[in-house]
Amino acid sequence: MTAEHKPKVQARFGDSAEAYAGSAGHAQGEDLDRLLLWGRARGAARGLDIATGGGHTALAFSRFTPTVVATDLTLPMLGAARSFIAGQGVAGVYFSAADVEALPFRDESFGVVTCRIAAQHFPELLPALRQVARVLRRGSSFLVEDNLGHDDAEMAAFILEVEKRRNPSHVRAFRQPEWTAFLRAVGLTVIDEAIMEQRRPWEQWTGRTRMSPEARADLDRFVLDAPARCREAFGSSSTANTIVSFTDRMLLLRADKD
Ligand SMILES: C[S@@+](CC[C@H](N)C(=O)[O-])C[C@H]1O[C@@H](n2cnc3c(N)ncnc32)[C@H](O)[C@@H]1O
Repeated sequence: MTAEHKPKVQARFGDSAEAYAGSAGHAQGEDLDRLLLWGRARGAARGLDIATGGGHTALAFSRFTPTVVATDLTLPMLGAARSFIAGQGVAGVYFSAADVEALPFRDESFGVVTCRIAAQHFPELLPALRQVARVLRRGSSFLVEDNLGHDDAEMAAFILEVEKRRNPSHVRAFRQPEWTAFLRAVGLTVIDEAIMEQRRPWEQWTGRTRMSPEARADLDRFVLDAPARCREAFGSSSTANTIVSFTDRMLLLRADKD
């Protein structure tokens, strides 16, 4: 899957780079605040932000981390992040095009690694986490946030279909025990965790990924016609023909390298 998947990531995120750099939902939020709280407590001198997207997490960490390296697989995204951060007058953020599965950094070279709302696009989690564990110093933290997988198989399948229709580079969302086991397998131990619900305006969320009008209409129909229990699990609010918003459930973890 890896070889054919990554061009999908680059195509979809390349087209929407500016939208991610300008996204208010990525620029702030209770979720970002929690990662910052955990990060400040670590007080690392050098941080790595994987899959930086529009650069919002890298920018926020640069306020208390002297050097932050921001990486992404998608070159236009990295360009958008660079312009966005330059516009904030911030020094100390460096950019490097990198696939999470092949990070071009020495072993144990970062005091903190962040990865926010991106792992759901990685073709496989384990090779990515092995790289994270490799570049982290012993005793340092990996701070990760991603969509929380649903416990119920039918609801999980429904939400997966919505996500894939909106952005075909979505792979899947993992449940908390799955994350813990993956992290354990690479030598990282979960120390802190949080689950946060975030209300997402439907227009903004679907608009950001530059769906065609046909694909968007099909997605709306798919959600509006879904069984009530699926719409409930998705937390969607709608009138007869219009979806207004839905609730994303996010899992945040701090895992330390043994
Ligand atoms: C939703 S954006 C990330 C948002 C960002 N972390 C923030 O806090 O605002 C997802 C990013 O993951 C990147 N990505 C997906 N697969 C990747 C991979 N294998 N290696 C590196 N970056 C990847 C995409 O290019 C995209 O920029």
